[in-house]
Amino acid sequence: MRVILLGPPGAGKGTQAKMIIERYGVPQISTGDILRAAVAAGTPLGREAKTYMGRGALVPDEVVIGIVRDRLTEPDCHGGYLLDGFPRTVAQAEALTRMLRELGTPLPTVVSLDVAEGELIRRLSGRRTCQTCDAVFHVEFHPPRAMGICDKCSGRLIQREDDQEETIRRRLQVYREQTEPLIGYYQTQGLLKRVNGLGETGGIFARISSILERRDGQGAASQSH
Ligand code: AP5
Repeated sequence: MRVILLGPPGAGKGTQAKMIIERYGVPQISTGDILRAAVAAGTPLGREAKTYMGRGALVPDEVVIGIVRDRLTEPDCHGGYLLDGFPRTVAQAEALTRMLRELGTPLPTVVSLDVAEGELIRRLSGRRTCQTCDAVFHVEFHPPRAMGICDKCSGRLIQREDDQEETIRRRLQVYREQTEPLIGYYQTQGLLKRVNGLGETGGIFARISSILERRDGQGAASQSH
């Protein structure tokens, strides 16, 4: 199973990605998670990425493309993968198509999560992430049992640096300008599936699963769910 999860910041890509990898056993490749780990470790990549991420801008294409190229050639990706947060520009999408051609693997299904902007801001400004295990909560929609404490590992819950309101607005603008054109890009190729990203996470996952299970063995077509 090869999947790209596309959608604006806060659409629920990370939340759905966890459910997909658990059900289908494919590795999750989240460029955001990889970059945040590099920032936390203080590596040269992390120091460079931090200057872009902190202000809601995209990390340069060549940096991110290099990360994904290395990751896709690792053995656990041979049977499939889930890309979360990549590609994010047309240049990244074109580079990915070239990579997959070189690797001789089929093109992925592209699932686009549609969520209205007001809801995205509510989701992002209320998100809390565990500093220890990266579990994701929401103060209103998915609150932890004890305020500020992770249910899974008792780690401290923090607000991501780029989840401040001004940075959220900047990230949404960057999405509209640089990432939204990928919807047309993949629609033209017949790979795009649009999914309503509103409602219970389990219901959204059911909509995505029905697409992925139908697609496996059939070939993609573009229609709304
Ligand atoms: P990245 O980490 O990819 O962030 P993003 O795309 O902005 O997405 P988010 O992680 O903010 O949201 P999500 O869609 O995963 O939502 P989530 O499931 O957490 O990128 C961060 C930065 O890294 C970028 O700004 C850029 O600088 C850099 N970067 C990354 N990839 C790059 C690339 N390819 N090129 C260049 N730069 C790159 O959900 C959000 C909240 O909503 C949570 O609290 C959750 O509990 C809640 N929630 C989820 N689903 C629901 C629901 N159905 N109902 C109610 N609440 C819900």
